[in-house]
Amino acid sequence: MTDITAEIRRPPGPSEPVPLGIDSATLDTLTALSAEYGNMLSFEQPNGRLAYFVNEPDEVRRILVRRHPKYRKGPGFERVKMLLGNGLIVSDGDVWRRSRTMIQPAFKVQNVHRLMKTMVLCADERAQHWSGVADAGGSLNISEETNEFALALILRSIFGSDYERLGMRDNNPFEFLSRDSARDLSVVMKVRELRQLLLDIIADRRASELTGQFDFLEMYLAAKDKHGQAFSDRELLDEIMTLIVAGFETSANTLGWVWHLLAGHPDVEARIIAEAKSCLPGVDAVTPDALQAMTYTQQVLEETLRLYPPVWLFTRRAHEFDELDDYDIPAGSDIYLSPYLMHRTAAFWPEPESFDPDRFERGGRRRQELPFFPFSLGPRRCLGEYFSFLEMKLHLGLLLPRFQMQRVSAREPALELAINLRSSEDLRLNVSKRTH
Ligand code: HEM
Repeated sequence: MTDITAEIRRPPGPSEPVPLGIDSATLDTLTALSAEYGNMLSFEQPNGRLAYFVNEPDEVRRILVRRHPKYRKGPGFERVKMLLGNGLIVSDGDVWRRSRTMIQPAFKVQNVHRLMKTMVLCADERAQHWSGVADAGGSLNISEETNEFALALILRSIFGSDYERLGMRDNNPFEFLSRDSARDLSVVMKVRELRQLLLDIIADRRASELTGQFDFLEMYLAAKDKHGQAFSDRELLDEIMTLIVAGFETSANTLGWVWHLLAGHPDVEARIIAEAKSCLPGVDAVTPDALQAMTYTQQVLEETLRLYPPVWLFTRRAHEFDELDDYDIPAGSDIYLSPYLMHRTAAFWPEPESFDPDRFERGGRRRQELPFFPFSLGPRRCLGEYFSFLEMKLHLGLLLPRFQMQRVSAREPALELAINLRSSEDLRLNVSKRTH
């Protein structure tokens, strides 16, 4: 525990203890404190630990990139741990390093390209459903639609032909992931049932002849550490659960926000449609090069991630003493970093509340230099960044030219802030077919 009475150089902050969590009240607290004390501040927490809120781009980069070995994951991961055991997102130190080294090759671009057919299939499923709703003059719960798209995609990418065994059509065993935020007994039971189902699939895969099919499970089963050791069943289960949780709600929420934003910005929508028509004239034209050429769509997605970064708050705990700027960070201190707040700080982003994809026009600038970190930075950076841009560009490129969305309500949706940033109510849009 930090001895907060010791003489250390600390940034300014309130003298009273401040409680923090991963919730909306924390966003209000951090917003108010940084308005009063600036972009580097410190305070004591009710548990006696020292906390730092760091909103300076260079210092954030230092913590996440160069000084990364001095930090571990911080508070707020309790519920996630119940789901993910010791998987990549929650593990630290040697356990994390070993898993990351074993898993990283699965995310090579050539591997992600092999999953593009699955991405097309999942977009086509949505198109069929939306077509029926549009013919009936109906509206879509776009939050649910993008959840179904991204969940079906990550599950097919992991399980290949075993996807059917998950029983998604009759009784979606993953529904509680995005619906139940309470840690009640029914969630514990659902997690237990789900882990058993996945263990059965893993056992059958181990027992079967290699099918030659291409999916993440096959790649994870084949992965070896530097001693030639493969993942145990337990480790594999934690990593598969991690991949599901990390890989679906983040992309689903981003896509939900994009559809919402586009419905309010016809000029931006028209530019994506023009780009999609020229780069992806049909399903057969979906190639890595065609998606790479969709640079404006990429900018729109980046601008959406600036305004609504799904992982809006990162926590870290100093594992050893560090110095930032002119300040000391004693071992045991908690660090709070918020892409949401940095992305909306006027000193870094002029008119931060406005939706303007042109701010991401490259013009020779490298993205690494922007105060922008929705996928984190450094060695713990998201492994699925390339996968997610490919899936999101393909989703928009195939669906936006076919379907027109209009907002059902003129009210701006309120935010719900937990581990992920969501809209507090599902987003709804009226859907119709475009005629040309
Ligand atoms: C818009 C989409 C996504 C966003 C914004 C996003 C964001 C992030 C962030 C911020 C982290 C680091 C969290 C932290 O350090 O506290 C992370 C980690 C991770 N993400 Fe993503 N993610 C996205 C999509 C995906 C997808 C589609 C996959 C898999 C296919 C994925 C797999 C992972 C994994 C495995 C990690 C753990 C990396 C590690 O700790 O070594 N993510 N993601």
